[in-house]
Amino acid sequence: MPVITAPLEFNEEQLYVDLESMFGHSLFLKCEGFNFAGSIKLKAAIEMVESAEQHGLVTPDTILVESSSGNLGVALAIIAASKGYEFLCVTDTRCNLSARRLIEALGSQVHIITEPAPDRGFLGARLDYVHSLCASDPRYVWLNQYSNPSNWKAHYRRTAPEIARQFPNLDVLFIGTGTTGTLMGCARYFRELGSPVRIVAVDSVGSVTFGGEPGRRMIPGLGTSVRPRLLDESYVDDVVIVDEVDTIRACHRLARSGFLFGGSTGTVVSGAMDWLARHGSPGMTSVAIAPDLGERYLDTLYQTNWLQGLYGEDVLNFAEIAAGVRPG
Ligand SMILES: Cc1ncc(COP(=O)(O)O)c(C=O)c1O
Repeated sequence: MPVITAPLEFNEEQLYVDLESMFGHSLFLKCEGFNFAGSIKLKAAIEMVESAEQHGLVTPDTILVESSSGNLGVALAIIAASKGYEFLCVTDTRCNLSARRLIEALGSQVHIITEPAPDRGFLGARLDYVHSLCASDPRYVWLNQYSNPSNWKAHYRRTAPEIARQFPNLDVLFIGTGTTGTLMGCARYFRELGSPVRIVAVDSVGSVTFGGEPGRRMIPGLGTSVRPRLLDESYVDDVVIVDEVDTIRACHRLARSGFLFGGSTGTVVSGAMDWLARHGSPGMTSVAIAPDLGERYLDTLYQTNWLQGLYGEDVLNFAEIAAGVRPG
């Protein structure tokens, strides 16, 4: 029986969903949403705050500040509440209302950027705002998930070893990419282990991370409008780019089996199934990482009006979703 005194002490690390019966290819989905922050970002947040503490960057006056599309903000708000720090989350209009409310309920502040930077999108505008805050007041300490090595080290130390322990004969690992912290931590771990695991990055259409054209992306978590500084493509064996329509349909297909996951999980599952259809072979052992759960997306991904307004009437043809058919 786990008994804890701080919210950071609990994180379910050993839960996998076998997707073969739902999607037709063997794929074990590692569920990272079962902790008090509700996402994989808790691990990166802990690692970054502890590293800042160890380097003497955090004092009782400190106001932690971070640009986040939601999940890292929630994780940092929990850490701030637990350790007695102030925290300001800088986000933009695509942040889920529920993530914003969670951050505020935990006692932190949220600042919402409403206009994208002309050439660098919402992310560029968020980063400009954080820079101006830090320049204006020395109490602000920016953890900077986009270049902080503790972001990827969290996954090097925790996420990847856990997968390796459960799947000693792993063939392929699918990882969605936002800051690329999860990707780089896992990829470095398996490379240093000397393991032949193929690392497949999964990103969204409209993201510039792997050199694509910038475009509209409405589902938070994955993708960037500024190339992530943590990324070293020499660690990546393959990249799959997924259309948001396919993300939505994968999410709804999972939901119709009773598994309500977040948007990035739909992207990773859709990309992994696409890759496995092309390169998979019988007996191949495949794992994908599900960064969070679906409740935070009830007003967007799981709301018919929102979906049809953005992606058209056909996006939710449940007969086709169940059969895995893409709208045409
Ligand atoms: C739901 C969700 N999925 C995926 C990611 C991407 O993870 P990473 O930043 O490690 O690339 C994030 C990051 O914020 C996220 O919130």
